[in-house]
Amino acid sequence: MDSGPVAGWDAVDAVNSVGPLSAVEESGILPVAVVEDVDAACRLAEAVSAEGLACMEVTLRTASAATVIRRLAREFPDMTVGAGTVLSVGHAQAAALAGARFVVSPGFDPDVVEWCHEHNLPVIPGAVTPTEIGAVLRAGVSVVKFFPAEAMGGAPTLQSLAGPFPEVRFLPTGGLDESNLDSYLRVQSVLACGSSWVVDRRLIEAGDFSRIRERCRLARQIVDRARSSR
Ligand code: 3PG
Repeated sequence: MDSGPVAGWDAVDAVNSVGPLSAVEESGILPVAVVEDVDAACRLAEAVSAEGLACMEVTLRTASAATVIRRLAREFPDMTVGAGTVLSVGHAQAAALAGARFVVSPGFDPDVVEWCHEHNLPVIPGAVTPTEIGAVLRAGVSVVKFFPAEAMGGAPTLQSLAGPFPEVRFLPTGGLDESNLDSYLRVQSVLACGSSWVVDRRLIEAGDFSRIRERCRLARQIVDRARSSR
């Protein structure tokens, strides 16, 4: 029998540090923004960073998403801005060109992951079953988006998945708000929670940035409390 490294070790070995995603880990919450207006996006970034959140995901669901990312990357260099809803290599290229520092996808597209790895762009693909998580691990991924988290059984499902995959860090997203953030953050392998609730599109459109700050503050308190009880 071959006494060399265990097959698959390379993939597991690649999964160690979160590297450029450290701002996401430190924040504990990744605000997921759907924002059309570029000036509103800047006010949003001001509000979010004033509450100690140093990261934001801008979803590629609006026509101006790339412009928003470019402007935030330029005007908020201390904020780690990533692109969400990346569904193709073309999306990843556009995001990288705009200055996105990481990429998030709802599912696993091997081409997107390969392209991001070739370009040293951290990528967080979605996976919700042991088979899918195994596949993304073999592709050299270290952080997995657990989406849609609530519909897939919430924190108990995530806790069960974390058992056989101790090397994976998770980003649960989908239906997370003040009522359930705590349950996810108590799962040891959760890197951070993705949530659009903190940066609710309706609040952005209403210009209610003080309410957004309140939500960010509350989310940060939940992060601190949950992490201290892990
Ligand atoms: C995402 O784009 O990651 C999710 O749609 C965000 O989910 P939420 O809107 O339920 O927070």
